[in-house]
Amino acid sequence: MEGVYGNDFGTDQQPDPDRAAPDEAAFAALLAGEGRVEPRDDMPEAYRKTLIRQIAQHAHSEIIGMQPEGNWISRAPSLRRKAILMAKVQDEAGHGLYLYAAAETLGVDRADLVDQLHSGRQKYSSIFNYPTLTWADVGAIGWLVDGAAITNQVPLCRCSYGPYARAMVRVCKEESFHQRQGFEILYTLSHGTPEQKAMAQDAVNRYWWPSLMMFGPPDDDSPNSARSMAWGIKRFSNDDLRQRFVDMTVPQSEALGLGLPDPEIRWNDERGHYDYGEIDFTELFEVIKGNGPCNAERMAHKRRAYDEGAWVRTAAEAYAAKRARATESVA
Ligand SMILES: [Fe+2]
Ligand SMILES: [Fe+2]
Repeated sequence: MEGVYGNDFGTDQQPDPDRAAPDEAAFAALLAGEGRVEPRDDMPEAYRKTLIRQIAQHAHSEIIGMQPEGNWISRAPSLRRKAILMAKVQDEAGHGLYLYAAAETLGVDRADLVDQLHSGRQKYSSIFNYPTLTWADVGAIGWLVDGAAITNQVPLCRCSYGPYARAMVRVCKEESFHQRQGFEILYTLSHGTPEQKAMAQDAVNRYWWPSLMMFGPPDDDSPNSARSMAWGIKRFSNDDLRQRFVDMTVPQSEALGLGLPDPEIRWNDERGHYDYGEIDFTELFEVIKGNGPCNAERMAHKRRAYDEGAWVRTAAEAYAAKRARATESVA
């Protein structure tokens, strides 16, 4: 499992026999010199497959991630909140599109990736299988889920694969806006009526542990991490990133005036980090297996939206073919 938006479970990694073996030594030297791998460069088949899987799962997560918050666009408490939320959800669509485009530079077709999502062969981040029960959940998602995404994705700006790294630069700028809008929603609620404050606290209580799980299993239980680190795809281990997130978030929770649902959180002077309680990963594995509260609903919605959009894709293809014919006849 590759951290935030990649639930790395069981996709095949067999080398493609039709591809010429790359010059392994040259590839290793490129990585050692912190060089960027570009689409036309030779790369080991396993590197290419790993990136396709990770970028595709990241793209799927951005798209599926539109649903829990999209659920609140029509019920946002003010016109201002509605406009902000619409912009945020639209950003996530844009992130999905950059990422599908980045995956396509590795020689796959976006339609195939979408098909693999729809048939359950590729995953998306389990965090989006939790329901958004109240308006405060929109705040908690922005603050915690987008906050975890930033923690994971900032190092991806230095990922060894050029198109992925470059896509992440803009994505991270937008994620930082998302995180602040979530913080601001929670701040407003936490300084409102007692009922509003209780609603904000309840949302944080429900989203805290799932957010920590977004970083993936503990390091000693994450077999593919070492290889992704050697390839310069992953820059920090799951546990290092999780610690970084906790260290960033605890002082913010104090600024919000909200608690975190973990009595073991306390500053550890010796380590120079916050300690936190043990994570119950059995829940995460259940959600990954498809037994989360909203798995079936999210996928059904996604497939329906895709089917309903078929006429748009057909029309766009027909238009592109018509344009190509016109250009040809002029030439
Ligand atoms: Fe995003
Ligand atoms: Fe976001």
